[in-house]
Amino acid sequence: MIIFENVGFEFEPGHPVLRNLSLELEPGQVVGLMGENGAGKTTLVKQINGLLKPTTGTVYVDGIDTRETSTAQLARKIGFVFQNADHQLFADTLQAEVAFALRNLDFSKDEIDDRVARYLELFELTRYQDQSPFLLSGGERKRLALASVLCVEPQILILDEPTQAQDALQKEKLLTFMDTFRDPEHILLLVTHDVEFAVKAVDRLLVLSQGQLIADGLPTHILSNPRILDRARLLPPQLTQLAHQLAKEFPNFPTDVTTIAAAAEAVNQLLRRQR
Ligand SMILES: Nc1ncnc2c1ncn2[C@@H]1O[C@H](COP(=O)(O)OP(=O)(O)OP(=O)(O)O)[C@@H](O)[C@H]1O
Ligand SMILES: [Mg+2]
Repeated sequence: MIIFENVGFEFEPGHPVLRNLSLELEPGQVVGLMGENGAGKTTLVKQINGLLKPTTGTVYVDGIDTRETSTAQLARKIGFVFQNADHQLFADTLQAEVAFALRNLDFSKDEIDDRVARYLELFELTRYQDQSPFLLSGGERKRLALASVLCVEPQILILDEPTQAQDALQKEKLLTFMDTFRDPEHILLLVTHDVEFAVKAVDRLLVLSQGQLIADGLPTHILSNPRILDRARLLPPQLTQLAHQLAKEFPNFPTDVTTIAAAAEAVNQLLRRQR
C-alpha cells in the first residue's frame, strides 16, 4: 500500500510543485494519473520510489517512510519506467540492459538467462538482442525500458507515459500485460495523456492540476466531466464527445459513455425508444 499524507514538494523554496496531496493506492487496482503538462505527475511518482523526498508531509510505501529508506531498497519492490527511455538505457547490448537489474538483485545465472529471453520476446526485441540499445527506434527503446524494469517482476509498477511512440498493436499488448497487475499483490500506477488508452486500462483515475489533486474516481465519471477535463487540459474520449453530441438531440442519451459496449447499449436503448 502507498500512502501520501499531506505531501507538499518544491524544487525551489516558494514554488510548490505538489500541494497538500493525500491519497492511498491499494493493490488490486490499476490506477491512472493524468493532468496538464507541468501539473506535477512525474514529480509525484518520483516520491514513491524515493528519487524525490517530500518537502512537507510523508510518503509511506508498505508502512515505510520513504525518507527513512534508500532508493536502492525501494527499487527492490518498485519498478519505475521513466518518461524518457534514454534516461534509463546505458548498456552495450539489449541483453545486458535487461540483465542489469536482475544481476543487481542477485538472481541466479539460469534465472537471469530465462527472464532476459522471456522479456525480450514479450516486447518483440529478441532479434536485436546483441545490438546496442541506441540503434533501436524510439518505440523499441521505450519497450526495452519496459522489459528491463518488468523482468524483475516488481510488486509496484510505475509507468510514466508508456504508450508514447507505440503503435496500436503494441498498445494492445501493453494493455494485456497491464491486466496481469490487476491482482491482490500488485499496484500499477500509469501516468498518461492518452485518454483512449486510459479508459481501457485503468479502474481508478487521479487528476492532478497545478500540483493539486482535483479528481479521484471512476474514469467514466471523470472523463465525462467538462470542468475537470478543462482544468487538466484533457479532451474527452471520442465516444464521450459523440455521446455529448447525441445528447443535444436526444436529451435522455447518457453522456458518461467511454466504452464501445456502453455506447452500443445506449444507442440500442435510444432505437428501442424511437420505435
Ligand atoms: N529538477 C527540477 N528543477 C526545477 N523544476 C523542476 C524540475 N523538474 C520539474 N520541474 C518543474 O516542476 C513542474 C512539474 O513537472 P513534472 O515533470 O512533474 O510535470 P508533469 O506533470 O510530469 O508534466 P508532463 O506532462 O510534461 O510530463 C514543472 O513546472 C517543471 O518545470
Ligand atoms: Mg511527466
